[in-house]
Formats: sequence, structure tokens, C-alpha cells
Amino acid sequence: MKPGIFITGTDTEVGKTVVSAGLALALRDRGIKVGVMKPVATGCFGPDERLVSGDAAFLMEAGQNEYPALTSPQRFRNPLAPNVAAMLEKKEVNIPGILRSYRQLQKHYDFLIVEGIGGLMVPLKKDYYVANLIRDMGLPIVIVSHAGLGAINHTLLTVDAAVIRNMEVRGIIFNRVSVTNYSMAELTNPKVIHDLSGVPILGSLPEVEGLHMEGGQFGRLKEIFQERIQVDKITGSLAAIPRK
Ligand SMILES: Nc1ncnc2c1ncn2[C@@H]1O[C@H](COP(=O)(O)OP(=O)(O)O)[C@@H](O)[C@H]1O
Ligand SMILES: [Mg+2]
Repeated sequence: MKPGIFITGTDTEVGKTVVSAGLALALRDRGIKVGVMKPVATGCFGPDERLVSGDAAFLMEAGQNEYPALTSPQRFRNPLAPNVAAMLEKKEVNIPGILRSYRQLQKHYDFLIVEGIGGLMVPLKKDYYVANLIRDMGLPIVIVSHAGLGAINHTLLTVDAAVIRNMEVRGIIFNRVSVTNYSMAELTNPKVIHDLSGVPILGSLPEVEGLHMEGGQFGRLKEIFQERIQVDKITGSLAAIPRK
């Protein structure tokens, strides 16, 4: 089993793809052969035979990865929860297929970054949620959250759902935190969330200028991620042994 991390979030659009890409860029910079995976993607585009996931494309660019079919094994067109999108498209989410792709990818890379879909309780099929996939993959998680008003509730609910399922929560990353004119909530929430949950806070990412997912543009994401996020706490001992 190769080491890896599952990047989940308190919600959709919270910054899981940006954090996953930032981590891939940071690990590549350390000489680590890093693979990325988006096990289930909805809202995909392109012709039916070659549906493309924007998240997977951006992650593959960040990791300079080569195996699109393994990286993004399950793709659906409708921008809905996977079980609903699959039903509308007269398909099913193929969990054994995802786990096979995951094991294959482990043969090609030394560390895997897996981006979730929505949050922990997004259904992939009947009685099977993103949380079940994380358990089946055997990965620790990082939670991406906003830091503004509402973040305490969203983050603690996610931590709770993870802890009662015996997941290892490596930490929380706050995304799109204001660096000037921050609100009182943004200023105080990280410490409150740490104190109440006991989960490490790994850092906060500001708005990254020049970052455009559609164009595969990262702006200064690599540098900013390394300046502001405790990368070693995500990867464990792996990052301490860079190999080129
Ligand atoms: N720190 C950031 N700086 C600039 N743009 C960001 C940042 N975080 C997220 N975005 C943008 O916000 C949108 C949602 O982020 P994304 O990472 O795709 O969220 P998720 O993967 O959780 O759905 C994307 O268009 C992304 O480019
Ligand atoms: Mg995403």
C-alpha cells in the first residue's frame, strides 16, 4: 500500500480541487512522484464516449500525470450527486472499478492525492457514501473549509462524521481566507475550531491571483501553498525524504 491522502471538504466549491492541486505541486517540488485521482466526477463535458472531468484535468496538469482512465474512472454529465447523475444516465457508480483503478495508480506513483466529491455524506450508490469510499481506500483525510461565518458548524459536523467512522483526520485547511479586511469570523474561527475539535489546523490559503482551472493556470499556487500550509503534516514522513 502506497501512502496517500483523501481531500474532502465541508461542501462543494469550497476548494478541494485547488488544495489537491496545490499539494501535488508542492510534493512534485520535493521530488516526490505524486499521483492524483478524482474517483467520481459529475458535471463532466465533451462527447459521450470521451466525457472529461474538469477537476481531473486540472489535477493531472498539477501532478503531470499520465493515466486519465485510472485518474478519473467514473464520469457523469449531470452536475448532481453521483447516484442521481448515474440514475439519470442509466448507469451505476462502479465502486469495485474505482478501487481497481486506485490500486493500479498505486503501482505508478509513490503518493496518491484523492479528491472527494462534495462532502463526506454525498451518496455514490445505495447505502454507500463518500465516507465508505474513504474507508475502503484506507486513507487519512484532510478537510477543506471556508473560515467565515458558518464555518464552525460546517467543520465540526464534518469532523464528527469522520471521527465516528474511525477516520484519521490529518487536519483542516481553510481556503479563500481574506488577507486584508478579514471579518471577525475569519479571524477567530480557526482557533475556535481547533479548540473544539482537537484537529490540527494545517494553514489557510488566500485568494490566489491568476489561478484559472479552465485554462490549467496555477498562478503562484505552488509557492503560496508551501508558504502557508504545513505540507509535512499531510504526508507524514514521506516528505522528509525527497528523491529526484
Ligand atoms: N484559493 C483560491 N484562489 C482562487 N480561486 C480559488 C481558490 N479556491 C478556489 N478557487 C476557485 O473556486 C472554484 C471552486 O474551487 P474548487 O477547488 O473547484 O472547489 P471544490 O473542488 O471543493 O468543488 C474554482 O473555480 C476555483 O478555481
Ligand atoms: Mg473539485
